[in-house]
Amino acid sequence: MDPSQPSENLSPETPAPASGDRRQFLKSAACVTLGGACVLAPLAAGVTVLLGPLRSAPPNGSWVNLTKLDGLTVGAPPRLFQVFIERTDAWTRHARNAVGSVFLERLDDTTVRAFQSACPHLGCAVEWRKEVKDYFCPCHNSAFAHDGKIIGASPAARGLDTLDVEIREGDEVWVRFQTFKAGVKEKMPVA
Ligand code: FES
Repeated sequence: MDPSQPSENLSPETPAPASGDRRQFLKSAACVTLGGACVLAPLAAGVTVLLGPLRSAPPNGSWVNLTKLDGLTVGAPPRLFQVFIERTDAWTRHARNAVGSVFLERLDDTTVRAFQSACPHLGCAVEWRKEVKDYFCPCHNSAFAHDGKIIGASPAARGLDTLDVEIREGDEVWVRFQTFKAGVKEKMPVA
């Protein structure tokens, strides 16, 4: 049989590719596949880098060292401490950012009480009024007792939010800084 003649099972409109054509076709397909991978891999890496800062916001619930026990006196009024948290993302390491503030009060030799300073009503900054010895929110005139409970009529649905405290290395006061949903009765950490 003459190899240059088409097989009798193939129609004349669809001639079988010659083996050289098949090799060329496979080469082209491999090039397209590899080329696609070469483009998509850096693209995916770029998207990851771009989204990095969004994923690396300071976690709600970071432990921060705010002071030493010596910095607080038993029986003294609560002291306000600014909270700074460092953040690292795909591009750079950021300086410590102010993320809020906390009232600390030393209750005895080894116990420190911490309140988030954001008002549980709508988040305004609460202050300590030394004349009347209570916490006060000037936004809607809410008052909170020494232990954080609401005093009198208040639009706040709950008292001040307590924060976890640990004394480490004998005298370091560490606080788990969290923010909570405002305007609701339950104390719910913001995600
Ligand atoms: S925000 Fe504090 S009472 Fe409204």
